[in-house]
Amino acid sequence: MKNKCLTVVGARPQFIKAAPVSRLMKKFGIKEIIVHTGQHYDYNMSRVFFEELGIKEPDYNLCIGSLPHGAQTGRMMERIEGVLLKEKPGIVLVYGDTNSTLAGALSAAKLHIPVAHIEAGLRSFNKKMPEEINRVLTDYASDILFCPTETAVKNLQKEGIANSMNKGKLISNSFELPHPFTSPCVVNAGDVMYDSVLYNLDIASKTSKILRAYNLSPRNYYLATIHRAENTDNSENLKNIFCSFQKIAKKYPLIVPLHPRTKKLLSDMKGLDKTLKIIPPVSYLDMLMLTNSARIILTDSGGLQKEAFFLNVPCITLRNETEWVETLRSGMNILAENKEYKILKAVENQEKLKVKKRSKNYFGDGNAAEKILKIIKEFVKQELK
Ligand code: UD1
Repeated sequence: MKNKCLTVVGARPQFIKAAPVSRLMKKFGIKEIIVHTGQHYDYNMSRVFFEELGIKEPDYNLCIGSLPHGAQTGRMMERIEGVLLKEKPGIVLVYGDTNSTLAGALSAAKLHIPVAHIEAGLRSFNKKMPEEINRVLTDYASDILFCPTETAVKNLQKEGIANSMNKGKLISNSFELPHPFTSPCVVNAGDVMYDSVLYNLDIASKTSKILRAYNLSPRNYYLATIHRAENTDNSENLKNIFCSFQKIAKKYPLIVPLHPRTKKLLSDMKGLDKTLKIIPPVSYLDMLMLTNSARIILTDSGGLQKEAFFLNVPCITLRNETEWVETLRSGMNILAENKEYKILKAVENQEKLKVKKRSKNYFGDGNAAEKILKIIKEFVKQELK
């Protein structure tokens, strides 16, 4: 069925990105089939997002769970291929840069099913990150590349994905599909995560009880998250980060919703004192509330860097580089790697930052999902002819 769109999700950030698009599928007359790979499976890493964001139940849960990269991606591909052969969708939608993204894109491309990649064109230029490999390969396997920013479009132009050499059509800022359609096609649709923040901020302020639950008051606490392999899998780096957290927490409470990956690795670390409020992963609305009211955010998450930027909260990124370079421009986000002295200096710096209203929004106008679906609908129509 051509106007059937098969969405592959599997990890926490993908549920958040898929929610605004899924919500509008019906309005555009597209039938959505959701495949959950099962990469994330704990209630508070997966199910809570479906419940809270009103995403429909997955039609398939592949229950792949945690495995080494090759095995995880391989098993996902094997199972996704089976679903694709059965469902015969007109297009496959994948999000972001996880192993679930790559598995979805490759399985579809090999069956000659068109692939649309949402959050295309992002680059850290660090091939040691599993996410970087996933992004690059997914972009090369995709037919429609929905970029969240102009920087992402430029990255694809530099790589030759969006130029005339390979007939890639750049239709940045226009939401009409070229006739006849030639693959690949690159669109700057804006960021679906910005859609999500705008849609949910008011709901979060009205419903979330997280600040009261942890006795926090707005602008009087720091918020941190850590889960990237480069920080968690190296015990020296993880120690540096948590030692600096302990020092920072002497000034203001530091709340750390901890990813299960980090929790496992941290359990070997002795001497973590009680000054840190280490809590289980929280839901999207609670996280939005924590983010919006934080004094400073310390994180290695791509999504949280952006959310801090959308909400005008100073951020410190505990990595050597970021794919979200726009967030660095105004000084709202700074890179502090994973060295203790750099992290402490960055906190000093961000404490002094004068937060100004931004004149330029690099991430679209909050209607990315609508633009994406307009193109997908046109694409499906052209395919039907
Ligand atoms: C994945 C993505 C990353 C994304 C992140 C968001 C890849 C390569 N990485 O990393 O891009 O930013 O999700 O969270 O796809 N675990 C649990 N319970 C769960 C899920 C995971 O205990 O519900 C544990 C697993 O046992 C494993 C670890 O967390 O030890 C890592 O899980 P994994 O699937 O490798 O990816 P993430 O680190 O979450």
